[in-house]
Order: sequence, then structure tokens, then C-alpha cells
Amino acid sequence: MSFITDVIGWYGQHKRDLPWRKTRDPYVIWLSEIILQQTRVEQGLPYFERFVERFPTVRHFAEAEEDEILKLWQGLGYYSRGRNMHTTAKVVMQEHGGVFPTSYDKLIKLKGIGEYTAAAISSFCADEAKAVVDGNVYRVLSRFFKIEEPIDSSKAKRTFTSLANNLIDPAQPGTSNQALMEFGALHCKPVNPYCPTCPLRLGCGAYQSGMVDVLPLKSKKTKVRDRYFNYFVLLKNESVVLSKRGPKDIWENLYELPLFETEKAAGIEILSNPEVRRLFGSQIILSSIQGPVKHVLSHQKLYANFIVLTDFEDDFLHEKEWIYVPLNQLTRYAMPKLIFGFLENFITLKTSY
Ligand code: ADE
Repeated sequence: MSFITDVIGWYGQHKRDLPWRKTRDPYVIWLSEIILQQTRVEQGLPYFERFVERFPTVRHFAEAEEDEILKLWQGLGYYSRGRNMHTTAKVVMQEHGGVFPTSYDKLIKLKGIGEYTAAAISSFCADEAKAVVDGNVYRVLSRFFKIEEPIDSSKAKRTFTSLANNLIDPAQPGTSNQALMEFGALHCKPVNPYCPTCPLRLGCGAYQSGMVDVLPLKSKKTKVRDRYFNYFVLLKNESVVLSKRGPKDIWENLYELPLFETEKAAGIEILSNPEVRRLFGSQIILSSIQGPVKHVLSHQKLYANFIVLTDFEDDFLHEKEWIYVPLNQLTRYAMPKLIFGFLENFITLKTSY
């Protein structure tokens, strides 16, 4: 069996029941594809349904007030997409007699429609043999064919588009494209793909050579920010102080230890920080300092010090909404691995003395 036959076979058994798969109306497919470029399927579905209900045809869309389109678009971000759609709907009315095009060459000339969208609409609606190449397709092809070319290089787009166009099933280009994207979205996922149950694993270059986790490759590293966290371990009567994180940063609403973040790595001198002194008093007794513990996230590298105090003033509790939690109840609180790992180790050491 060929690669694409296996993928289409998998799709037949596992595809999601999605509303845009029940139509070949290019206008409706266009709506769905533009929305899905902004967000994931689950979040995109209600937007799709609202748009189709309010603007059932391209004429309705073209005749709408821009404000109404933007209002419906609200929350999807990148508002120029909504405006481009309005322009395109008007062009379809004026220059295509209100008939939304289905050929790749006509579609690609419309505002806001690039190679991906033109391939999607022309293949889904008219079975034109144009391959869609989205992130899912890059991932599946780079793994199966063990392509070690970074997918963000300028050459890669040509390599992958040409390969995808050669693989497409000419008898059913639309299904072929949907199948490959769906296989990437649901099965050959970025992390923890389902290799053991994968019908393609015997032919998969990445699987056979243990490279599933490293492919696809990227040349440009994502920018990583260094952060310096100084955590205070405030112990009293077999309890420790925890604080809850707020919004708009990592670990929203998780519990951690009282934190002082500094611009640069700080050592013991953090104890003379005026805010530390104000909160904990000047009579603090330092038990130990541990760290830095390095903790790597996708866009941030954290360096954490843990400063264990055994004598301090605790008037801060009211001011900060920090809470004492008995050591034997810590597991009830959701914490980042960095904090939980430290506390687990700390408690084990403490009780083994
Ligand atoms: N993501 C982009 N296009 C899609 C489609 N047609 N079905 C499911 N997910 C998608």
C-alpha cells in the first residue's frame, strides 16, 4: 500500500464529523478555512456557525457592514483578515457574478487567499489536484520521509509542496488533502504522537530511526528569555507558606512559594533587599540557600533559588494573601513541577534526619 492510501484509509475510520466536510460550497469552505487559520477546530466551530447563519451566501457577506463582520470576528485576532474577507466577497460579487471561484488560479488572485487556502478550496470543492501544505503536512511528511531539512528554510516550502503534490491521490485530491491534515492533527501530533498504533509506522523513516521527537527540524531557534526567580521557603510549625499566581504570566492560578523575581541572578544579597526586609523583618534566620535550579519552558529559561528561612515575621500574610499549608497537605495544591519537585525533595530530606 502506498503512503497516501494508508493515510486515506486511516481517515475513513477516524475523521471528525465537521460541518465544512458536508459541503462543496466554495464560499462556505472559504469561511471555514480562513477561520481555521486563526484558531483550532473546537474554538473555530462556533465562529463558523455564526458566520454561516448570519451570512449564508457570499452576497450576504458582501452586503454586510464591515463593523458587523468585525464584531462576529471578535476574539479571532488579526482583524485585517476579516476586512480582507469583506473585500474579497465584494470582488466575487462584482467581478465573478456572485459565483465564488473554485479554480486555484482564480482563487489565488483574491485578497487574503494564499497558496494554502487556494489549494484547500480548489481541491475540496472541485477536486483540483493541488496539495495543501500546512503545519500538519510538514510534520507528517518530514517524519515519514525522514526529511532533515529545516521546515522554516526558504527551500523547504518548495521541497514539501512538490513532494505533497506528487503524493496526492489524483482520483480524490480533496479527500487526500483532508486526510493528510487530519492525520497530522489527530494522530501524528507534535508531541506524543500515537506511534505504537500507527498504520504507517513500518514505513516511517522517523519511527524506524528513533527521530520522531526531533522531526520536523527548525533552523531558527525561538527566542528564549532568561528569568531569575528567588523563592522563599517560609517554614513554621511543619507548615510552609504558599502563594497563588495571577494572570498574564506562566502558570496562571497555580500555587508556588513566595517569589521575588530579579533582573539578574541574585545570591544571598537578596536578604538585604528592602522589600524582603520589610516583609520578613530584619531578624530573619537563614537556614539554607539551594540553587540555582534550571527549568526550561518553551520561551523562557528559569533560574530558581530556594531560600529557606526558619525565623521571620509573618505580618505579610494579610497583605499578600499568602497561606500557610501543612507539609502533609501540599499535594492538594496544583503547583508547577519546579516547585513541587523542590518541595518533595526538601520534605524527604527533612524527615529523614
Ligand atoms: N484545519 C484547517 N483546515 C481544516 C479542515 N478542513 N478540517 C479540519 N481542520 C482544519
